[in-house]
Amino acid sequence: MKKTDIKALYDNKEALTGNEVVVAGWVKSCRGNGSFGFIDLTDGTCFKTLQVVFSKDKLENFDIIEKVNTGSSIMCKGKIVLTPENKQPFEMQAEEVTVINATDSEYPLQKKKHSLEFLREIAYLRPRANLFNAVFRVRSKLAYLLHEFFENEGFVHVHTPLLTSSDCEGGSELFRVTTQNIYEEEKKFSPEDELFGKKVYLSPTGQLEGETCAFAFGKIYTFGPSFRAENSNTTRHVNEFWHLEPEVCFMNLDELMTLEEKMMKYIISNIIQKCPDEMQFFNNFVDKGLLDRLNNVINNEFGRVTYTEAIDILSKNNDKFEFPVKWGSDIQTEHERYLAEVIFKKPVFVTDYPKEIKAFYMKQNEDGKTVRACDLLFPGIGEVTGGSERETDYDKLANHMKTLGLKEEDYWWYMNLRKFGSVEHSGFGLGFERILMYITGVSNIRDVILFPRTPNNCEF
Ligand code: 4AD
Ligand code: MG
Repeated sequence: MKKTDIKALYDNKEALTGNEVVVAGWVKSCRGNGSFGFIDLTDGTCFKTLQVVFSKDKLENFDIIEKVNTGSSIMCKGKIVLTPENKQPFEMQAEEVTVINATDSEYPLQKKKHSLEFLREIAYLRPRANLFNAVFRVRSKLAYLLHEFFENEGFVHVHTPLLTSSDCEGGSELFRVTTQNIYEEEKKFSPEDELFGKKVYLSPTGQLEGETCAFAFGKIYTFGPSFRAENSNTTRHVNEFWHLEPEVCFMNLDELMTLEEKMMKYIISNIIQKCPDEMQFFNNFVDKGLLDRLNNVINNEFGRVTYTEAIDILSKNNDKFEFPVKWGSDIQTEHERYLAEVIFKKPVFVTDYPKEIKAFYMKQNEDGKTVRACDLLFPGIGEVTGGSERETDYDKLANHMKTLGLKEEDYWWYMNLRKFGSVEHSGFGLGFERILMYITGVSNIRDVILFPRTPNNCEF
């Protein structure tokens, strides 16, 4: 007999009532006495579980129940019965239970509640815990919704390389990739020894390569992992994160922010509809105000403030910060959160940063001091996207690179884009884990990515 998904049972419960079906999955719990009991069964096809009722008179092989432990994989055959008076709308009356693989007392997920720290140590099992099951399904749907949004907007999805020889973001530290035994004593770098004939790194962004395709398709985006070798132990940094980067021709900074806001509202309103059980779970058990907060984001216009205005506001509150601000200083997480949480109480774009603290490719303003950058800050998180209008003037770009100590010849092909049909263009990078944190209410980035890569942590 063919196995039926638990999701299909929920979707067609009336039609399936009275039918005999087979389900297979993993035991969340099993309780009962010597003659009667319940199995709470999941098969991963939906967040909801199936209640399997067993009793001595209906279940032929009743003795098997002693092996139906939490975490065991089992198969059950039985009839579907509607139970509108109960918490779950229907249940299965088991006629046959098969244990595929029984767990024993070593199975770590016995108890209902474990600390997040403990669950990180058993990251290979945590997708089975309710919180992570909800997080990773939402993660999957969110990726789908982002693809759907950009597809609807007419973007072409391009796959940019993960190995690169250029450092696009300047400040970001890079992971070197080499086939050489770098631990050999006195081993010096020599291009002839290298597979690529030069120094190569894991890419911190797909932007530069993405820009090449923007000039072919007009609107593109890349979506993949980015790598940053920084030694930051914070709740919002990982060394390997997923990065969505659109790049759009004939678009200025204001239009870019409008696109970002539209994207955010699209994914947030749709995720609430697509994952109602998971979102309700987060609202009940992670953050009681979550759904209100998300609805607020959907229904209100995002704030927009220039860096100079933001510094004005922040410097009046310098007594509240560990790092006081002044014009020219970087805006740190504590300042970002203060702006979004206390001042604006909603997502806010900060624009026109000093050119010294931003990347080389950003378009310079007339004032000679600032660049057309925009960071989108979310309450509770801080920076979720970073973007800019790009410098299209060859000479300005070359001069700026010189002052930053970058060699023009290392970026020859990127520079050539400014000679071969260059147009106004803009783009941004979305930290996929950061927006996932906001949408789920989960406060540590390590808990929204399958196997987090952070300093001293690469076990799985
Ligand atoms: O602000 P960033 O460094 O911008 C870029 O890389 C540009 N090339 C993007 C572009 O214009 N195409 O990174 C973009 C976003 C940040 O806003 C943040 O959300 C996320 O990537 N991010 C990280 N997320 C998790 N861990 C880290 N270490 C991150 N570094 C950046
Ligand atoms: Mg940034």
